Amino acid sequence: MTATLLDGKALAETVRAEVRTGVEAFTQTHKRPPGLDVVLVGDNAASRIYTRNKEKASKEVGMRGRLHTLAETTSQDELLALLALLANDPEVDGILVQLPLPPHLAADRVLDAVPPEKDVDGFHPVNVGLLALGRPALVPCTPLGCMRLLAQSGTRLRGARAVVIGRSTIVGKPMAQLLLAEHATVTIAHSRTQDLPALCREADVLVAAIGKAEMVRGDWIKPGATVLDVGINRVTTSEGKSKLVGDVCFDEVKERAGLLSPVPGGVGPMTIACLLQNTLTAARRRLER
Ligand code: GUN
Repeated sequence: MTATLLDGKALAETVRAEVRTGVEAFTQTHKRPPGLDVVLVGDNAASRIYTRNKEKASKEVGMRGRLHTLAETTSQDELLALLALLANDPEVDGILVQLPLPPHLAADRVLDAVPPEKDVDGFHPVNVGLLALGRPALVPCTPLGCMRLLAQSGTRLRGARAVVIGRSTIVGKPMAQLLLAEHATVTIAHSRTQDLPALCREADVLVAAIGKAEMVRGDWIKPGATVLDVGINRVTTSEGKSKLVGDVCFDEVKERAGLLSPVPGGVGPMTIACLLQNTLTAARRRLER
């Protein structure tokens, strides 16, 4: 059996087109486009690329996108002062602070300084709490993208056994909450889980968000399962070339899964598309409620 691949690139284009239409209507009504402000502190190479892509993507759908690049040595007070300005600016609808922050900054205090209604990452305790209550406000972008991929794929979630590997605040925990809200029976696995392969073999839906290249093997997969690979790992091939792989061993897993999201081109493109969707949602909620 060879899995059908879930085309996140194509679905992300659909989401972006929906957002573009929404942005046009918003701009007509409010005489200004929705605004997204992305804050990058320091020189992390991957973060630089991610934040530039987020700014660019926001402009491509007609938003006002702005990237604030702060030095590695920025103090906590300086960063909080910028966030206070953005929080109070009526033309700023979405604020995103790229993680990880340099180690001298307290990420919790920084994320708490983003007003919940502008928190397009869904990381503020208020948004985390609302999601846990089943009253989602702004939901983290990667799990939101995963849910959209699952919806598009026709995977039945009601009563399904779902295993999420990874318990991060960015992916694992919110992913589990969203699957639970769709009536799946959800298990969160992590680095201390015993006999992870046996647990995974029970999963109708498996979400791999571990951060370890190709850890999930073919014989961990229940035949016909839906597998979402959230990992993005850069590895060097035996020929000395650099390439991106997921947390799933693609060549093995595709022989057992029914549906599988590839890396690249699966979950990744959905993350930025959902960030744009969250920004539009935040703008509408602030001005139109
Ligand atoms: N770093 C890795 N993923 C993310 C994300 O989704 N949001 C932010 N702000 N930082 C990240």
